[in-house]
Amino acid sequence: MEATKVSVSNISLSPLGIGTWSWGDRLFWGYGSDYGETEVQKAFEAAIASGVTFFDTAEVYGLGESERLLGRFIKQTTQPIQVATKYFPLPWRWDKKAVADALTTSLKRLEVEQIALYQVHTPFDFFMGQSTLMEALADEVKRGRIQSVGVSNYSATQMTQAHDLLAKYDVPLAVNQVRYSLLTRKIEQNGILETARRLGVTILAYSPLDQGLLTGKYTSDTANQVQGARKLDPKFSANGLKKIEPLINKLKQLGEKHQKTTVQVALNWLIAQGNVIPIPGAKNARQAEENAGAIGWQLSPEDVEQLGFLSLNY
Ligand SMILES: NC(=O)c1ccc[n+]([C@@H]2O[C@H](COP(=O)([O-])OP(=O)(O)OC[C@H]3O[C@@H](n4cnc5c(N)ncnc54)[C@H](OP(=O)(O)O)[C@@H]3O)[C@@H](O)[C@H]2O)c1
Repeated sequence: MEATKVSVSNISLSPLGIGTWSWGDRLFWGYGSDYGETEVQKAFEAAIASGVTFFDTAEVYGLGESERLLGRFIKQTTQPIQVATKYFPLPWRWDKKAVADALTTSLKRLEVEQIALYQVHTPFDFFMGQSTLMEALADEVKRGRIQSVGVSNYSATQMTQAHDLLAKYDVPLAVNQVRYSLLTRKIEQNGILETARRLGVTILAYSPLDQGLLTGKYTSDTANQVQGARKLDPKFSANGLKKIEPLINKLKQLGEKHQKTTVQVALNWLIAQGNVIPIPGAKNARQAEENAGAIGWQLSPEDVEQLGFLSLNY
C-alpha cells in the first residue's frame, strides 16, 4: 500500500513516520528483554507494507544500535526508505569537521550514502555555536550526503535563528522535531507551532502517544505493572492514569464512531493540526501496523475540536 506523500522542503515523506528510539535502547525501553531484533525487524516490515516509509533515528539511540538495525533492514528491501537521523552536540565537537565525522559514522551504520534528513538533536551550544553548525550542515547538503536539514527541541527563537543562518546558504530549514501530543501541547503556547508555520518548517511530533499513555492500555488499576523508566514518571502512577481517563474514554468513543483504535484517533488528531508529522515509536509489527492506520482517513472538524477542548485540561 502506498500512502500519499507530503512535501517537506525538498523531500517527500509519508504523513506519519516511525520512531526508532526503542530499537536497541536497553536503558529506557528495555530492548533485549521482552522484545529484540526479530520484533523490531517485523515492525519495520509492517510499517513499509502499510505505506509508512519514513523512519526517525539518532546516533545516540542504543549508542548507535538503532541506526545499525535500521541499516540492516533497509538493505533487505527494494522499497525507497526515507531516513532521518540526528547529530548530538557535545562539548568536544567544536568544529565543522566534527559534524562531517559524525555524519560519516551515521551513514556507515545506516549503510547508505545519503539520507533524507539530518537533524541537530538539541540546541546545546558549547563551543561550536549555531553559525558554524549551520554552515557545516549546509556544506553537507551541497556535498549531497544529506537532502535536508532539521533541528530538534529548538525554541521559536532558536528555530528562527537556525532558519536565518541556513538561508545564507540557500538551504531551507525543513523540520523542528519537538514533543507534541494531546497530552503535551506546550508548542501551541510557546510560539513554536506558529513560528514553524510562518517559516514553512514542518513539525515532527515526537512522543505523539505520550510514551504509551494515549494507547489506553495503561490504566489506574494496572499501574503497578508499569515497567522500566516509566515507573518514575508520575503520569504513569495510579493517580496520573486516573486523571487521563476522560480523555482516553473520548478517544475510545471517537474510535468506535470511525472504526479506529484509540491510538489511531490520537495520531489522526495531531495530523489534523496541519503541518505536523507524528513519529510514534513501534516495538513490534502489531504496533507499527496499528500506528500506520492513523493515516488515510480524517476525524471531522467537530471531533478535532472536541478532543482539543477536552485535552486542554492536561
Ligand atoms: N528529538 C528528541 O529529543 C526525541 C525525544 C523522544 C522521542 N523522539 C523520537 O520520537 C519517537 C517516538 O517517541 P517515543 O518513543 O518517546 O514515544 P511514543 O511514540 O509516544 O510512544 C512509543 C511507545 O508507546 C508504545 N506503543 C506505540 N504504539 C503502540 C500501539 N499501537 N499499541 C500499544 N502500544 C504502543 C510502545 O511502548 P510499550 O509497548 O512499552 O508501551 C512504544 O515504544 C522516538 O522513537 C524517537 O524517534 C525524539
